[in-house]
Amino acid sequence: MYLSTPKALGLFALVGTAVGSYVKSMSSNTREMFTECMDWMDTYYDSDAGYLYDFSAATALRHETRSSAWYALGLLARNEGTDVAEAEKIIQNIISGQYTVTSEEWYGNYQQEPEEPYVGSTVYPATIYGSWDPNWRGFVSTTLILAMEEFSDLLDKKTQKLILASLYKATVGDSYRFGHLDSSQDNLYPSYSNPSIMRAFVSGWTGRRLKESNMTKAGETYAQEIIDLFNEQNTLSEFNSGTYTGVSLFGLILWSKYLPKDSVMTKNGPSMIKYTWEAVSELWHPGLRNMAGPWDRSYGYDMNRYLSLMALWFWPLIGKENAGLISKPETMSHMADYAWGPLFAVLADKHKSLIPKKIVKGLSTFSGEHTFTTSTRSPPFDNAPRNFTTWLSDKITIGAESFDEIVVGGPARSPQSFNPAVIQWDTGSEISFISLFPTEMALDVEVNPLNLTLSYPYGTSASIFTLVVGTFANIRTISGWEDVQGLGVTVSGNVNEAYELSFGGTYGGSSDPIRDFEFWNFTYTMPAGFTGVPTIVLDLELLG
Ligand SMILES: *[C@@H]1O[C@H](CO)[C@@H](O)[C@H](O)[C@H]1NC(C)=O
Ligand SMILES: *[C@@H]1O[C@H](CO)[C@@H](O)[C@H](O)[C@H]1NC(C)=O
Ligand SMILES: *[C@@H]1O[C@H](CO)[C@@H](O)[C@H](O)[C@H]1NC(C)=O
Ligand SMILES: *[C@@H]1O[C@H](CO)[C@@H](O)[C@H](O)[C@H]1NC(C)=O
Repeated sequence: MYLSTPKALGLFALVGTAVGSYVKSMSSNTREMFTECMDWMDTYYDSDAGYLYDFSAATALRHETRSSAWYALGLLARNEGTDVAEAEKIIQNIISGQYTVTSEEWYGNYQQEPEEPYVGSTVYPATIYGSWDPNWRGFVSTTLILAMEEFSDLLDKKTQKLILASLYKATVGDSYRFGHLDSSQDNLYPSYSNPSIMRAFVSGWTGRRLKESNMTKAGETYAQEIIDLFNEQNTLSEFNSGTYTGVSLFGLILWSKYLPKDSVMTKNGPSMIKYTWEAVSELWHPGLRNMAGPWDRSYGYDMNRYLSLMALWFWPLIGKENAGLISKPETMSHMADYAWGPLFAVLADKHKSLIPKKIVKGLSTFSGEHTFTTSTRSPPFDNAPRNFTTWLSDKITIGAESFDEIVVGGPARSPQSFNPAVIQWDTGSEISFISLFPTEMALDVEVNPLNLTLSYPYGTSASIFTLVVGTFANIRTISGWEDVQGLGVTVSGNVNEAYELSFGGTYGGSSDPIRDFEFWNFTYTMPAGFTGVPTIVLDLELLG
């Protein structure tokens, strides 16, 4: 549907029919990503069940719905042997597990695992982001739409009908969502970029396909709210996240590719992708193979060690190794996201066509020392825009954001993933990091070459500054800043000079690792009876 040029129509009609030709038409980097990812997922496929086993290998052979949907799309793209039949089996299974009681908040959602008890039963109470995850409607239904758009010629008419009926339910169920400040309830505000972008798309696409003008209208209206917010600063509200910038880009490509010209999504998607990439290209450090901080939501402290969705977008553009992936990405932290591979491969060419050529060219080599500033806002959580400053040089980056919010831990209320001040540097043996662990609702920052000032405008004598610091291959046990590898750190400000040092480790220490990363916890307290604005200053010197 909605392919605007005859040329595109011809291309897709052609590649859809011949066995294996869809994959052959991919660029070599994209094909490599697709093939390696599918080879890996093949080993998790349980054909008897028609689902993938859970990748964690820690679920006693239970299965997982979302990655099975992604795998099914990959099977359609590969189209060899029994691939298509297996894909239809998976799709039918996933749809038969969809929740269909309209009065329930999880109506139209998909199970997380086919083995789970009924959500909302007395033994399995409904817990949002626990026993059910409202974002899975978006993850699964966008995948079903991709299957319809790219491979409907392979799908049985009966399966196509099931898909459309499923999308109808998912769209209606998603319309039940809206944000609440109470964290036990739903949090879908337009500022929650990644699921809101998917929601607008699914509603807009499904409404047009099923001629449900309410759905079409709801998609357009919601999209406009997202666009208005984006246009304030030309930034995503969920800003600079190795994982979620990747999901938002995915959604914006869907906006740009699969809706007709009269949609606000078709009109705005391409420029939103361009602006997002302008920011990414300023923050991406090809030498350190990381997006410099600060990170609104991160699943790790070093993109060379956790699998980020941005790395999967970089792979088709600059190659696997330059993207910061190891040869077996399934070994990295947060590896379950590797299963996005088939979707990103299917969209890679369209994506590349939407990124300015100059930016793609610049992604492989560090452009030299520079400072990048920008701003964004996540209503209703921000009392003022969050202001970002990042300084990047050859072997070190320093980035921080000022914020004034009504919660601790960023709009997602997750201190473990909100990293408002981050230093990364190359020790020679690893990319290490210093990250402020959020403990306050507001922060003021000043970022300069080789120094960083952090202060708490509403702080008190009870305030603390916790710096999460990476571990080092060459010195396993450290006693203080003097042992930190490759970086001289001098601390000043109005904090107590003495700090507490502890370790967060898998097998011991004072706390668990964060996002799989073991770390040193340097915590500074304030002098007894302190009045004023708690402030800490880090002066840095690259060593060696
Ligand atoms: C469409 O929306 C209007 C206004 O919200 C409502 O009255 C109507 O029942 C809806 N129609 C359908 C088919 O859902
Ligand atoms: C961000 O900058 C704007 C414009 O200078 C300012 O109004 C706002 O208060 C700043 N935000 C924070 C959290 O300091
Ligand atoms: C931080 O660096 C800037 C520029 O390099 C310098 O002007 C300033 O004095 C330094 N501030 C501190 C607190 O070290
Ligand atoms: C860091 O250590 C301090 C004590 O020094 C502790 O209060 C805090 O909870 C620790 N933070 C983390 C993230 O482990």
